[in-house]
This record gives sequence, C-alpha cells and structure tokens, in this order.
Amino acid sequence: MLIQVPNVLTKEQVAKCRQVMDQADWVDGRTTAGAQAASVKKNGQLPDSPQSRELGDMVLEALGRSPLFVSAAVPLRVLPPMFNRYGEGQFFGAHIDGAVRHIGPGMRLRTDLSCTLFLAEPEEYDGGELVIEDVFGTKSVKLPAGDMVVYPSTSVHHVTPVTRGYRVASFFWLQSLIRDDSARRILFDLDQSIQTLTVDRGHDDPTVVKLTGIYHNLLRQWAET
Ligand code: NI
Repeated sequence: MLIQVPNVLTKEQVAKCRQVMDQADWVDGRTTAGAQAASVKKNGQLPDSPQSRELGDMVLEALGRSPLFVSAAVPLRVLPPMFNRYGEGQFFGAHIDGAVRHIGPGMRLRTDLSCTLFLAEPEEYDGGELVIEDVFGTKSVKLPAGDMVVYPSTSVHHVTPVTRGYRVASFFWLQSLIRDDSARRILFDLDQSIQTLTVDRGHDDPTVVKLTGIYHNLLRQWAET
C-alpha cells in the first residue's frame, strides 16, 4: 500500500529545513547505503549535527500529529529522519532498502515502511521522481514541499536523474506494529471507515463502539512488539 500524507510540515517548517540545508556541508550519500544500493546511488546527504537532529525531531513531532500517517503506518519505532539532496545529473538507481538498520548501541529496526518527505516544490526541479514498483504496478511520485509518501520497504524503487535545480527531501524508515502489508491495509481501511461512520453517527453509536472494538481486537491479534 502506497499512501500520500499531505501537509506533514507547514511551509514555514519547510523553509526552516531549507535554511539549515542551504548552509550545510553535504556528504556523499553512499555512506548510508549497502553495497548494491551504493553502487547505483549518486546524491548528497546532510551529515549528523545538532541542527540536522533538530530538524529530524521536528519531522517526528509532525508525524505524531498526523492521524492519517498513524492509521496507515501503525508505527512501532521510527528511525531518526535523514535529509538528502540531488543536484543536476544525480539519481538513485533501482534498489530495495536494507531490511535492518541500527538505531543505536544494540538497537535494531526492521524496515517495514520507507518514507520520503518532499522539501522542494515540484516546479523547483526537473526529474527527481521517486518511482516505486508495487504489486499493483509502477507509480511515479513527486509531491509538493511538506507532503510525504509512505510505501512498503519491500518495493523496488529508484529516483530518476535530476536535470535542473535541486531535489531536497527527508527520508527515513519505520518498523510497524503490523509487519504484513495486507494486514496493515485491512486495519487502515477499517479505521478510515470507522472515522467516517463516527462523523455521521457520533462516538456513542453502538455500531461505532462495536467496530472500534473489532479494530482493537484485530490489532491485538496481529501486533508484534
Ligand atoms: Ni531507497
């Protein structure tokens, strides 16, 4: 399931990211990629610093306030967001993201979902589309600054070469409480339907109460911590 989450960051927050990114010293993006991915990766990455961590925290805080993101991802652990930049001629060839990432000493995270939060407006650059091959076919994604796409980390994907301007983004991975993509989809559809029904009938409606209970019982059945 591929989900677009609009307005994760406000335009002011995007501007704050861009200000820090404009003043940063960029490093080669291959430092965080595995051997296969590194061989097809050509971009710049923001090195770890107090400023980049502050931006990452701002993104995480914004995600926590997004019901759509929480409903679609059912996150258990989220990796600190990183930031990248593709200039003219830069790209990231076809790859699947590594399955396990280290968070800190002794802490590991299984990557169930990959996230790209766009930080440049589509008209600022040409090329730089994120192309995701999912079970339902190939989808090309280029979103307004502040919007995010969440997709299964099992998908082959690539970023097409930038031919003008800079494509800047934040990217990160998360481990979901629900490992299986199709089970996560069922919970997402159920949750969205309950939200709609709640607007029509209110929180006290017996059917809303019953369906909310079913949602939680399925979550209890399927959740892995
Ligand atoms: Ni990737």
